[in-house]
Amino acid sequence: MRSTTLFTLAASSVSFAVGISGPEFHQLIPREAQLKADDPLPGPRRGSFDPVPPEQTEEEKSRAGEIKDMFKTAWDGYFKYAFPRDELRPANNSFLNEYNGWALTLVDALDTAALMGFDDLVSTSLDYIPSINYSRDSTDKVCSLFETNIRHLGGLLAAHELFTGPLANLATNKSEQVAALLTQAQAVADTLKFGFDTPTGIPQNNLYINNRSTDNSTDNNIAQVGTLVLEWTRLSDKLGKDEYGKLAQKGEQYILKPQPSSGEPYPGLVGIEINITTGRFTRGLGGWVGGVDSFYEYLMKMWIYDQDRFSFYKDRWVTAVESSIKYLESHPSSRPDLTFLALHNETRIVGYSQHLACFDGGNWILGGLALKEPRYVDFGLQLVDGCAAIYNETETGLGPNIFRWDPVGTPPEATKVPANQTSFYRRAGFWIAQPGYGLGPEVVESFYHAWRATGDKKYQELIWGAFQSIREFTKVGSGYSTIEDVNGKVGSGYGNYQPSFFLAETLKYMWLAFTPQSPVHVSGVEGPESQQWVFNTEAHPVKVFKPRDGGRRPKRDVLEG
Ligand SMILES: *[C@@H]1O[C@H](CO)[C@@H](O)[C@H](O)[C@H]1NC(C)=O
Ligand SMILES: *[C@@H]1O[C@H](CO)[C@@H](O)[C@H](O)[C@H]1NC(C)=O
Ligand SMILES: *[C@@H]1O[C@H](CO)[C@@H](O)[C@H](O)[C@H]1NC(C)=O
Ligand SMILES: *[C@@H]1O[C@H](CO)[C@@H](O)[C@H](O)[C@H]1NC(C)=O
Ligand SMILES: *[C@@H]1O[C@H](CO)[C@@H](O)[C@H](O)[C@H]1NC(C)=O
Ligand SMILES: *[C@@H]1O[C@H](CO)[C@@H](O)[C@H](O)[C@H]1NC(C)=O
Ligand SMILES: *[C@@H]1O[C@H](CO)[C@@H](O)[C@H](O)[C@H]1NC(C)=O
Ligand SMILES: *[C@@H]1O[C@H](CO)[C@@H](O)[C@H](O)[C@H]1NC(C)=O
Ligand SMILES: *[C@@H]1O[C@H](CO)[C@@H](O)[C@H](O)[C@H]1NC(C)=O
Repeated sequence: MRSTTLFTLAASSVSFAVGISGPEFHQLIPREAQLKADDPLPGPRRGSFDPVPPEQTEEEKSRAGEIKDMFKTAWDGYFKYAFPRDELRPANNSFLNEYNGWALTLVDALDTAALMGFDDLVSTSLDYIPSINYSRDSTDKVCSLFETNIRHLGGLLAAHELFTGPLANLATNKSEQVAALLTQAQAVADTLKFGFDTPTGIPQNNLYINNRSTDNSTDNNIAQVGTLVLEWTRLSDKLGKDEYGKLAQKGEQYILKPQPSSGEPYPGLVGIEINITTGRFTRGLGGWVGGVDSFYEYLMKMWIYDQDRFSFYKDRWVTAVESSIKYLESHPSSRPDLTFLALHNETRIVGYSQHLACFDGGNWILGGLALKEPRYVDFGLQLVDGCAAIYNETETGLGPNIFRWDPVGTPPEATKVPANQTSFYRRAGFWIAQPGYGLGPEVVESFYHAWRATGDKKYQELIWGAFQSIREFTKVGSGYSTIEDVNGKVGSGYGNYQPSFFLAETLKYMWLAFTPQSPVHVSGVEGPESQQWVFNTEAHPVKVFKPRDGGRRPKRDVLEG
């Protein structure tokens, strides 16, 4: 999951506001060591992954089993103490109902349960889902279009594709419930679509379902606008009804062709906020961080989904990646061996990043494979190593929500390492600006992609290390919890919150990494056509578009206008 949630620090808008205040921003000094297009990069060989899936080894089998056990514990805690509410508070066996009371964890976790082979959980979930009333919000709270899209719509679509495809054997005698997954996906979209009713078609994100009103925001962030198009297009293609895809693609046009130019300070790199009334960018502050993140992610994924309709999305991804290599590549002064992507405030570079942003390596690897562009794969592997370092250097073995560094090439006086972290910074190459860990997937997600591309067991070991840390430091009460300090001791501070994405994403990517023969795997073979599925930003596998799937492909001019 990327971008915003309303009340946790896995949330970008919140954490962003917290982490970036202060005077410590400086002008970009042109760096001599800038990457040139044809410079070979060091790093493991890509493309060496054997396209024939190997047998699961005994060790992989036992590790996959332990990850399954963790999933079962998390699911059981939720089901016993929180269902049919949204999420578990594990420390006191209580619940949270911040996502409209539509049994969020059950829906979000369903495809992971199915892939892992929990037929009883699948049966329970399939029987319950048709009874969810997606046109009514029993909590009467604000509803995030973005979160509801990636979790509910994404989860329902993926489950429908799996139970009508490779996992149909888990849903025998349940054809009505399986059909209801698609009906319910459409019901979610029908409920949410009034959000797009704005002068530009750029959606409002914060919706009140029961009276079909919004919080009347003046702007939206581009992650929330640009992370709808995969699910809404897939829904349209499955139903043979253009309406939904068109809604999501219309608002996206304003991000694909940014105005004014100050909203795109470097080619392809755009600002976070866009004005809902005018479609114009508010400013040029951005990067691969929360608020922007999955907008970039989906540019590549849309092209993998359908190369014919979404080639312009791919062009924009390439432009953004080339500019990121040129302007955002950043090395900490104390550990120049590490590579991070910096933030850009207009054209000023800031040594700031987030756990959320650590999806970047995986996305670059995926894009590099699809485009047959080894430079992107190799750079992606460097980013993966950078994010591995933020796990390696803490007491828990888990990385912090927000971290910062002093980029090589900026004046020493710009260094503002907090006094009590100077020795940590000297050793680790980053300092901690927000010390929590939110049970998010991004780092293991990137390890997973690195493993798929290279076949290098090093990445499986990194995932196994993260798994052991999660087991040791986040287990509390009836489940697993966000923690407040990645340098704290066991039990030193739990957020008492088990987010649904822990089951949908974190546990799915970890389990897949020890299950070589799953049908939904990212393919390590180069070329876009080798991918049969594409994971949405909540790790829900969406089947890539095939004209014969029954979907009609709308006219291209409608889409790229
Ligand atoms: C459980 O703990 C949370 C704080 O973590 C608190 O807000 C909530 O009221 C508690 N619920 C119960 C039922 O004790
Ligand atoms: C779902 O909620 C809507 C709006 O409150 C209501 O009109 C409808 O009757 C409900 N459907 C069911 C099956 O309860
Ligand atoms: C499914 O239905 C068939 C007959 O249609 C029956 O033989 C079988 O036992 C059923 N399976 C389950 C799991 O209920
Ligand atoms: C819609 O409902 C929400 C939640 O009850 C409320 O805050 C908001 O003011 C209502 N909007 C309108 C236009 O009635
Ligand atoms: C949004 O604007 C509408 C129409 O002007 C108004 O009825 C509603 O109360 C506003 N909602 C909020 C949350 O300000
Ligand atoms: C967005 O545009 C509207 C209409 O021009 C304007 O009133 C509003 O101030 C703008 N909002 C921001 C945040 O720039
Ligand atoms: C971005 O730069 C502007 C102009 O120097 C500064 O006022 C602002 O505080 C910076 N924004 C952030 C979030 O750092
Ligand atoms: C992990 O951290 C330890 C302690 O700082 C260090 O010795 C080791 O080299 C690091 N490993 C990697 C792969 O960065
Ligand atoms: C460093 O000092 C700040 C401010 O006093 C404090 O909030 C923070 O917890 C300290 N961090 C460490 C790692 O000691």
